Amino acid sequence: MAEQAPVQRGLEDVVALESRLCFIDGQRGRLFYEGYDIRDLAAESTFEEVAYLLWYGRLPDGTQLTELRQRLTSLRPLPPPVADLLDRMPRQSAPMDVLRTAVSALALFEPAETQPGASSIGGALRLTAVLPTILGHFHRRRLGLPALADRPELSQPAYTLYAIRDSEATELESRALDVAFILHADHELNASTFAARVTASTLSDLYSAVTSAVGTLKGPLHGGANERVMELLEEIGTPDHAEEVIKSKLSNHERIMGFGHRVYKVEDPRATILRDWSRRLGEAKQDLRYYHLLRKVEEVVHREKGLYPNVDLYSGSIYSLLGIPKDLFTPLFACSRVAGWTAHVLEEYQDLRLIRPTARYIGPTDLVYPPLSERAPVRNGP
Ligand code: CMC
Repeated sequence: MAEQAPVQRGLEDVVALESRLCFIDGQRGRLFYEGYDIRDLAAESTFEEVAYLLWYGRLPDGTQLTELRQRLTSLRPLPPPVADLLDRMPRQSAPMDVLRTAVSALALFEPAETQPGASSIGGALRLTAVLPTILGHFHRRRLGLPALADRPELSQPAYTLYAIRDSEATELESRALDVAFILHADHELNASTFAARVTASTLSDLYSAVTSAVGTLKGPLHGGANERVMELLEEIGTPDHAEEVIKSKLSNHERIMGFGHRVYKVEDPRATILRDWSRRLGEAKQDLRYYHLLRKVEEVVHREKGLYPNVDLYSGSIYSLLGIPKDLFTPLFACSRVAGWTAHVLEEYQDLRLIRPTARYIGPTDLVYPPLSERAPVRNGP
């Protein structure tokens, strides 16, 4: 057999394509969207501005931002058959499964956006506008809360909070979620974005690409980590137990969620910003329980394994302080990352090449095909 290139397991360090959307400097712990430092965006910008930046490649002026907000607001309602489908889903369904199914179902009612290779920005706006409605609709029904009302005056993150909680957010709460949305909006070729681009690279449509992405984000090594961090905090209980619980997990070769990253070799800059917001929100609510616990966990994990926190370590503490239930953490991640997914899919359509790597074959060849009657029974076979 011909000599093959070495396998890069997990495609680690493989440069798969060119993109102008997002740059991660993993050595210096820096992150840029379209050239803008994430720290400036988190301090000064809003989620809608960042989404515009990713979709159009430049920051909006005042008129463009107002128009974008109006369009997003008008695109929030669900087609009645999708609302109906959500009403029929088992109440105990995992919200990420609900989201994935609803995005896929939505495509059936929005044919103009789902043509193969459809590259209109309309689909990006629609999906970004509607994901919080899907979540809110399902969550309110499972809790028996009143149906969602139109809230055109609310920004996308504030609408998301309203959709989930049914109570008015304070300015600080809205801003905290806005910052979390900004920080989660894009992250180069993370697994879910790559999944979206692979789907788009076959000239499939945007809704199929986002359906692939939602399914990929769900896993605990990716977006599912934030929920697991809160489970860890519940298990630890108080800071004085952190040492014992973490050491025992590490000695069992368990991964500590919210730590480590494929690209960052130092602290993830999003974790730095979210740590600060976890403290700020904790102080405002006079509840620094999570913050103190997480600081202790950080100290132990860094000492024992030399690992740094990633974006998922502090996000859950912020969402909990905002009164958001644990099983909506990863869906919230999707509500902001959808801006990045769709921007990447649009970029893929601009410079499309089928993404199709190869595998190193490690099995036999030229086996003699035995007739059915001559095959030995195999235990545990189907
Ligand atoms: N806890 C314990 N050990 C870890 C962790 C962790 N969180 N992360 C990496 N390691 C160890 C790993 O066991 C391995 O050790 P050894 O060489 O002794 O076997 C070494 O570090 C290298 O790990 P790796 O799996 O080769 O590194 P990777 O680049 O494939 O992993 C990662 C990246 C994110 C999958 C991993 O760090 C991890 O599993 N973290 C926990 C899950 C998590 O927080 N995911 C969110 C990632 S950031 C947001 C997102 O993308 O959604």
